[in-house]
Amino acid sequence: MGKTLVTGSLGQLGSELRELVGNDRNWIFTDALPNEETLQLDICDSRRVKELMEEQDVDLIINCAAYTNVDKAESNKELSARLNAEGPKVLARCVRERDAALVHISTDYVFDGKRKRGAYRESDPCRPQSVYGATKRQGELAIRRSRCRGVIIRTAWLYSSYGNNFVKTMVSLGSERSEIGVVADQIGTPTYARDLAKAILTIIPQIGEHRGDIYHYTNEGSCTWFDFAALIMTYCGLDCKVNPLTTEEYPTAARRPAYSVLDKSKIREEFGVETPWWSISLREALRKMGKPVPQHL
Ligand SMILES: NC(=O)c1ccc[n+]([C@@H]2O[C@H](COP(=O)([O-])OP(=O)(O)OC[C@H]3O[C@@H](n4cnc5c(N)ncnc54)[C@H](OP(=O)(O)O)[C@@H]3O)[C@@H](O)[C@H]2O)c1
Repeated sequence: MGKTLVTGSLGQLGSELRELVGNDRNWIFTDALPNEETLQLDICDSRRVKELMEEQDVDLIINCAAYTNVDKAESNKELSARLNAEGPKVLARCVRERDAALVHISTDYVFDGKRKRGAYRESDPCRPQSVYGATKRQGELAIRRSRCRGVIIRTAWLYSSYGNNFVKTMVSLGSERSEIGVVADQIGTPTYARDLAKAILTIIPQIGEHRGDIYHYTNEGSCTWFDFAALIMTYCGLDCKVNPLTTEEYPTAARRPAYSVLDKSKIREEFGVETPWWSISLREALRKMGKPVPQHL
């Protein structure tokens, strides 16, 4: 059995995977700007990807690398396309050449969130509203065209004790301010990156002959950013009033879908993964971040 290589492993999802697998020597962690425990790998550098796969006998790549700043992507189209479309294409080609496998992560922002009743299924048409969403969709298509072995997992609203994310921003704003405004007309599902990392570990031994099949994975349930922020304040006992805003009242560079809840039945039925309720996972994540959420909440 060969080794598993994780790209972008210093990000939220990569860090959760690293923590879950511990010191397993069959796992190699890489990132564009490495540290002492991480090898250097730019996912667009085809020569280096091939070299590492050969040297380390890699038979599975988990691609956690991406350009994830949704608003900045609007003015950094080239970089977003390089990381979200070109990078996955390079990885898919390298994986295909060695008959290795690829687990790639995509996003709910491939959907437009308009005229939708019920959660999005994998087969629903994609109409990205942003540069980030469009380049992530290009990445999905490049992998599917390559016919390499592996799966594409779309997720949403990721947070973790690692990296920067909405939960950390709310905890910090809630400690500094008595009132904040948060968008209350975009509905989705907050997802603890640790739960996604566990789901990936469950799926890996079952990849078999899957070739670019798409699956949806988020936590269970749905809420608005406003609900999410309000629960963070409650759990952390922060005396900060959260006021609802409309998307119009809170303009951002990128357009986001008003509704992007994903249907998880396919991934649950085919791979037997668990999808914990979003508010329960949030409580667990906050406790891990050292926030003493009271037992009764
Ligand atoms: N975050 C979300 O809310 C969200 C929602 C839906 C889907 N997703 C998807 O889930 C996946 C994981 O997201 P995440 O939140 O864990 O991302 P993240 O925290 O932003 O981590 C991405 C990592 O990739 C690295 N990277 C950047 N350019 C690279 C390159 N050329 N080669 C190798 N590594 C590179 C980044 O390094 P630097 O930090 O130095 O740039 C960072 O360490 C991504 O595919 C993302 O699109 C995320």
